[in-house]
Amino acid sequence: MNKQEQLKHQVALAALEYFDDYDMVVGIGTGSTVNCLIDVLPQVKSRIDSCVSSSIETTRRLKEHGFHVKELNQTGPLSLYIDGADECDTHNRLIKGGGGALTREKIIAAASDKFVCIVDESKMIKILGSFPLPVEVIPMAQSHVARALVKLGGQPELRQGFITDNGNIIIDVHNLKIIDPLKIESQINDIAGVVCNGIFAYQKAYVTLIASKNGIKIQN
Ligand code: A5P
Repeated sequence: MNKQEQLKHQVALAALEYFDDYDMVVGIGTGSTVNCLIDVLPQVKSRIDSCVSSSIETTRRLKEHGFHVKELNQTGPLSLYIDGADECDTHNRLIKGGGGALTREKIIAAASDKFVCIVDESKMIKILGSFPLPVEVIPMAQSHVARALVKLGGQPELRQGFITDNGNIIIDVHNLKIIDPLKIESQINDIAGVVCNGIFAYQKAYVTLIASKNGIKIQN
């Protein structure tokens, strides 16, 4: 394991503290940090009734570890959702979607009481936007949405060869200074053809666990 993998493993272990009940139905995100979580999840298996998954890949991994995966429409609200992020600011506002699963991730975050975000320290930033912002778009709206994103000050780039689990495309927006995340999240959502964007300001994390060489920091 290299250093970053070790940090991801440590923060995944720290997240297990939040499995504090029995028969829990928990939301599970997507990405390499969450993959570390899924690997250690059997340690709290007795507390988990089932999982709601944010992607086909996460579903595959959860089933491989013997977890029961349910559809969100079967479960009602969830008490806990755990996921990673591509960027996190000091207010627990995030950019997500580097893995392309942002829409399902945002739906599960919205349906959960507590969104616990797990990151290593490399994800922490002052102002969101260094990481290109993923926007999920209905394919026929690609050009229209790209023009609208240019008007907002960004440089849109189609994610080549990538189709989301929902059958849509991803446009990654470079050089967007996200000074007011709530405002830009709404503005992008208002563009016709946008399904979802990767700013999680309305659905910010309840708490972020940050792994560094000095241990785990809890950011409320
Ligand atoms: C998936 O669509 C993303 O939102 C991931 O949660 C995010 O990209 C973090 O992934 P890593 O843990 O692989 O950095």
